[in-house]
Amino acid sequence: MIRLPGLIDPHVHLRDPGETHKEDFDSGTAAALAGGFTAVLAMPNTRPPLTDQAGLGATQQAARSRARCDYGLFAGAGADNFTSVAALAPATVGLKLYLDHTFGLLRLDDQETVHRHVAAWPADRPIAAHAEGRSLALALLLGHLAGRPIHICHVSRRDEILLIRSAKEKGVAVTCEVTPHHLFLTEDDIRVIGLKRAGVRPPLATAGDRHALWDNLAVIDCFATDHAPHTAAEKDGEQPPPGFPGLETALAILWEAVHEGRLSTEELVLRMHTNPGRIYGLPEQAETWIEVDPQSAWDVHAADLNSRCRWTPFEGMRLRARVRRVTLRGRPALEDGRVLAEPGTGRDVRAASPT
Ligand code: NCD
Ligand code: ZN
Repeated sequence: MIRLPGLIDPHVHLRDPGETHKEDFDSGTAAALAGGFTAVLAMPNTRPPLTDQAGLGATQQAARSRARCDYGLFAGAGADNFTSVAALAPATVGLKLYLDHTFGLLRLDDQETVHRHVAAWPADRPIAAHAEGRSLALALLLGHLAGRPIHICHVSRRDEILLIRSAKEKGVAVTCEVTPHHLFLTEDDIRVIGLKRAGVRPPLATAGDRHALWDNLAVIDCFATDHAPHTAAEKDGEQPPPGFPGLETALAILWEAVHEGRLSTEELVLRMHTNPGRIYGLPEQAETWIEVDPQSAWDVHAADLNSRCRWTPFEGMRLRARVRRVTLRGRPALEDGRVLAEPGTGRDVRAASPT
């Protein structure tokens, strides 16, 4: 059994409030614990989106009553909240900027609006950007001009990771995350997953892109699932929404790379615990750890997972590692597949914490 610190996922969609048939803080944090995550940072593209005090209040209430693991909330940059959203900074983990095609209503098309958001959000608080291709260059420049760091979400392509590498070499304050699905799947897997279900943003890329991510592992600060649950019926329907669930498979999939010697345990912990905690300034979770059995093969089946979405792009995959136990703040939170932490026991990482 291998003992690791509690994993932190800096990018999940828990759909609460508004689309709780896909997921909510209860099912989503159960999935997190099953996957070895003791803290998750939730994205603001809920219904309503978390772009103002009312949205923040609604999400805080949902999370407080249902979360089983610790959580942080992102504020969303909207078309008209660049003067008001900074007021949400103390209660949130960062501002999310959507510069490219996504699920929900938070996409920003207007460059001036993006510029205003980057200038107005407090410089000591993180900004996370969904910025693909040329939008990435814009996000890097605007962050640099504002003299503030930018975190780039779900980098998926060769041109993107090379641009971030160049920016880092020039001293630009940028960090980035990559998902397990972009590290392990390519467009060749679309046939297996099925065209509709395989839709995800950013899309699955080429084998060359995937190789470039692995070749530039040193440039990747975090692994993030971008857990984006939509029900199987929705994915199979007329207009399938983009997104993959990922919380319950991430560690085990990445462990395949550990097994193959492509990734060390230290490199994994750096990207799934240390760096996300540092980038978002999260408090240490006292007496918190997970126990992983590295030789306990299991087959991925959606029916066995806690996520409400009831499907996974990794269906049928045989994985070696299994999270056996999670201890969260001194209490057993997961044991042999059973989630023990009750809804409402998770804490907001930005709430004043008793020491
Ligand atoms: C995300 C979702 O469903 O909320 N979908 C996705 O394909 N990644 C949105 C997003 O992260 O852009
Ligand atoms: Zn996302």
